Amino acid sequence: MGRGVVGLLQRESASLAATGRTLQLTRVASRTPRPEVDLGGAAFSTDLADLTAADDVDVVVEVIGGEEDAKTLFAAAIAANKHVVTANKALIALHGNELMRDARRAGIFVGIEAAVAGGIPIINALTRGLPANRIEWLAGIINGTSNYILTAMSEGGQDFATALREAQRLGYAEPDPTFDVEGIDAAHKLAILAGLAFGTPFDFASVHVEGIADVDAEDVGYARELGYRIKPLGIARRTARGVEARVHPCLTPESDLIAKVDGVMNAVQVRGDAVGSTLYVGPGAGAGPTASAVVADLVELARGGADSCAVFPIEGDWESSPIGEVSCAHYLNVPAEDQPGVFADVAQTLGRHGISIEGVIQRAEAVRGARGSEWVPIVILTDVVAELDAERAVADIEKLAGVTGRVRRIRVANLENSDGE
Ligand code: HSE
Repeated sequence: MGRGVVGLLQRESASLAATGRTLQLTRVASRTPRPEVDLGGAAFSTDLADLTAADDVDVVVEVIGGEEDAKTLFAAAIAANKHVVTANKALIALHGNELMRDARRAGIFVGIEAAVAGGIPIINALTRGLPANRIEWLAGIINGTSNYILTAMSEGGQDFATALREAQRLGYAEPDPTFDVEGIDAAHKLAILAGLAFGTPFDFASVHVEGIADVDAEDVGYARELGYRIKPLGIARRTARGVEARVHPCLTPESDLIAKVDGVMNAVQVRGDAVGSTLYVGPGAGAGPTASAVVADLVELARGGADSCAVFPIEGDWESSPIGEVSCAHYLNVPAEDQPGVFADVAQTLGRHGISIEGVIQRAEAVRGARGSEWVPIVILTDVVAELDAERAVADIEKLAGVTGRVRRIRVANLENSDGE
């Protein structure tokens, strides 16, 4: 990532001079020396502290990732009155409140464009493009690895494990894919987007997080039959009491633009009260897109522009809404015995919880599981229902005599409904 920034700065240095101020790479620090990288005469050190101690550094660009060393470097930069540009979403999501407060007090510029959705200028869109709006909700595919896997399952009929192995082989997924497939990476990014969109502190702890590992190839197929795609979404919404933020796989209608964003691409849809719905699409990772975002922040600083923390946070009463307060439609996949009356029992259970059925798929042929077990999937699309009612209904369905195992439940995101449900 650092290499991409160095290369882009060198390539673009002449046109950047048009900003009236030059951007000069004076020092590079990395724990792992890379002698093959042309630093254009910049001094090299393996000690990060050399950057903040040096007089010829005005802005520190942090692309090391991780939490602790990055936090120490950020704090040292503030103490030394140096501006900071960072691509580190975990750092900002988890420690951004204190770091940006200290930076603001010290009059330090903080650029975080590269921290969310790589090359998509979504931080710029929220802070400089849309501040005249009251943001109602935003929803994004903000983890390219998860989008790649679900796309491969949908387009290529692969199962989750095969699609993950392929993502690792192509270098999209890390050898340890936990942060990506369990939704943590997306939750870091969503916490940042929600804070900037709603003018609240970053609140990673309140983001409800579910990964994509439980999505079955069968669900992807049924979703398609019902006219949906399954996408890894982060959704943040202004509620009556505050802000709701959640990361989980979602059925999205195939006619929604965001449902057409496939592979490793990222997309963020933002609905403002004045502008309506806007959609930003682009590459969410990689050396080039990340460098594009980092250098954009450097140019903004060189132009004397305001930084991301200029709009952060707006004080006021707010609270995070728990997942239990979410209402949306649901996809249910109920494994049932192939005998009369089971579907009626399932429908009756939903009815008892006030849940109406919008669509059903029931196949005659049985699915064969391990050790010779067999069941017939009953796939149901419900109407909009409160989360707690859906949970209780599913628990009761799983207790029915004709239901053979766990019900798979995936929430539906009808984003084009203006309430974001
Ligand atoms: N691992 C992330 C993704 C990219 O798959 O989108 C870096 O945030």
